[in-house]
Amino acid sequence: MAAPLEFQGTTKSFGSQKALDNLSLTVERGEILGFLGPNGAGKTTAIHLALGFLRASAGGGKILGASFGHAASRAKVGFLPDSPAFFAESALSAVTVAGQLNNLRNPQLRERAKALLSRLDLSSAGKDARRFSRGMQQRLGMAQALVNDPDLLILDEPTSALDPPGVLEVRELLRAARDDGKSIFFSSHQLSEVEQICDRIAFLDHGRLLRLGSLASFLEDSGRVGIVIQGLPASAEIAQKYRQYRTASPENVLHFTVPVRLQRELIEQAWAAGGTLESVTPLRRSLEDLFVTWSKEADAHLGAPS
Ligand SMILES: Nc1ncnc2c1ncn2[C@@H]1O[C@H](COP(=O)(O)OP(=O)(O)OP(=O)(O)O)[C@@H](O)[C@H]1O
Ligand SMILES: [Mg+2]
Repeated sequence: MAAPLEFQGTTKSFGSQKALDNLSLTVERGEILGFLGPNGAGKTTAIHLALGFLRASAGGGKILGASFGHAASRAKVGFLPDSPAFFAESALSAVTVAGQLNNLRNPQLRERAKALLSRLDLSSAGKDARRFSRGMQQRLGMAQALVNDPDLLILDEPTSALDPPGVLEVRELLRAARDDGKSIFFSSHQLSEVEQICDRIAFLDHGRLLRLGSLASFLEDSGRVGIVIQGLPASAEIAQKYRQYRTASPENVLHFTVPVRLQRELIEQAWAAGGTLESVTPLRRSLEDLFVTWSKEADAHLGAPS
């Protein structure tokens, strides 16, 4: 079976600028793939190419087995743009119109639209959808994207305007869709959200794919370990000796973050000084750290100012 979404050396130039440079990337069935990268990296451009809103300058790709731009495949794709805009007067009509465009008919369409609006907390939003707040527009855009029960969801910053309950609702919807075997490709700057739901991440910078892999593999093992020692004051010799590794410590408790190679000697010296070992925790990297490191690498490589 064809992969739900495949970029095949996709390139897009605007004048002399390459907004997307030879992107090759496959979204597999039943996965959530987070598409990360600094502002202007080319994420929205890649999404617009996949949906056929733009034509590639070179290369191409496939969406649900059809070439980018092939209209028939769109019926099983759900798309949320980065700035959804609505022309319908009510939320219900905005969602039903989206369903009709994808060949859904009443009464199923009406039922599904209502269920989604209620799930996204919009059933009581009686007012003109054109005057919705940004977060309400994003919720409504999400309902539109889901109404046709798509096999592939492409979402451009789906939670950027949402309040915390909205973020939670979308997270649950995306997880449920994935568990149902759907594929989800979404761009986001909300790294804590990405950490919670993605199976894999792709990192794009200056139009180039710089990293692609499982989220867990990127985050695991930072080479550092957190150590907490009880019963020693801040004036203890060990606190001075490993001063550079100490983090905020309450009274008579010492917190350290040390490279793994120092773990053993620090613990032994703490014991020798009469301290008690409370915990040793291998530290994970944060996606934020990785993001910053990768962008700096890209800037250094391309000679851009950091
Ligand atoms: N229609 C266009 N004409 C000219 N340049 C464009 C056009 N669309 C995008 N670009 C340029 O392409 C580059 C990539 O833009 P894109 O919107 O894809 O970035 P992005 O990764 O989605 O950024 P953000 O995180 O800010 O949403 C930018 O330099 C942008 O100015
Ligand atoms: Mg964008």
